[in-house]
Amino acid sequence: MDAKYAFRAELLSESATIAITSLARELKAQGKDILSFSAGEPDFDTPKAVRDEAVRALNSGFTRYTAVGGIPELLQAISLKLERDNALHYDTNEILVSNGAKHSLFNVFQSLLDDGDEVIIPAPYWVSYPELVKYCGGCNVVLQTDESTNFKITAKQLKEAITQKTKILVLNSPANPTGMVYAKSELQEIADVLKDSNVWVVSDEIYEKLIYDTEFHSIASVNSNMLERTIVVNGLSKAAAMTGWRVGYIACKDKKLLKYINNLQSQCTSNINSITQKASIVALNGYCDADIEEMRLAFKERMESAYKQFSTLPGFSLLKPQGTFYLFVNISGLGRFGGDSMMFCKELIEKEGVALVPGSAFGKDGYVRFSFACSLEQIAQGIERIARFTKV
Ligand SMILES: Cc1ncc(COP(=O)(O)O)c(C=O)c1O
Repeated sequence: MDAKYAFRAELLSESATIAITSLARELKAQGKDILSFSAGEPDFDTPKAVRDEAVRALNSGFTRYTAVGGIPELLQAISLKLERDNALHYDTNEILVSNGAKHSLFNVFQSLLDDGDEVIIPAPYWVSYPELVKYCGGCNVVLQTDESTNFKITAKQLKEAITQKTKILVLNSPANPTGMVYAKSELQEIADVLKDSNVWVVSDEIYEKLIYDTEFHSIASVNSNMLERTIVVNGLSKAAAMTGWRVGYIACKDKKLLKYINNLQSQCTSNINSITQKASIVALNGYCDADIEEMRLAFKERMESAYKQFSTLPGFSLLKPQGTFYLFVNISGLGRFGGDSMMFCKELIEKEGVALVPGSAFGKDGYVRFSFACSLEQIAQGIERIARFTKV
């Protein structure tokens, strides 16, 4: 058969992170001692109260289809969370639950973008943004940032990037992979640039709870204009160590957009897992705050330790992250790689069995991402191997 595929399917590329991950898996299978720092997920168990609630829901027979966008009690719990944590008021009919924040983002792009619409994405970016935008017909407009602005876009940069075709600005704070957090004043400056435009803001706040010595602010809370144009995206994967449960949500003031997304989801995936929905309420309503804080403190200790160790390594430089569980390390001082992050990561895993993600996967070559979602011992061992690798 002369197989023909959809153009959009052929547009989508495999994640560059997969190259390293598959190599790590292959080498592990060969019996090699591999230390992986490529994980994008907490290494903790989901809090017990959440697991217990899932068992209760299962045993009570809560196993049928539910409302597409989530059961009323879950929407209520999210509404209360947004009020309590972010001083944002959303009614339950302004919230929609999907199969992870990734699915929420797909729904939003799918429902907002027409062919050729421009989406502004600050780099370094989370790998899926440009791929999802491309798949949904949008054009990526990547704004490069570096250490001089703490990897954050400036108001001037944004102003210059906006055209008649700009539809969305994607903002991710705390940011994957840099760990940087936008201050309230910086969000206000962005809001000033956007106020007379028709640009939506998709605010990915998934790392909100993993924050160190700083405050988190949602751009939606800056003023009423921002509240209207912002689509808040959040979920429980990172905050409550629930990556496998698949719960993400959006909050947005535009009922028509929510209706369109509800229609799309009703035709594609329907509701998320019914048991997950019941359990998620427990993760959101304060019962797990102590567990979440315990995880945050453990991540903070690991961050301090990893940051300190990397800071003393010749050839490496990095900013101290304010959130997430990643270090974004500049390797351009290591002359022999010429800033080629993929080459660095491939050689490092082959010679020392250490898996990192190359910056090129995040639209920023010359850097590597180191995830500290692992034990202090593993962090020390990994950095020791990296030091040995770069000494020769
Ligand atoms: C910035 C960012 N947004 C969204 C997601 C997706 O999270 P979820 O597991 O809820 O789909 C991730 C996961 O790595 C992420 O890093």
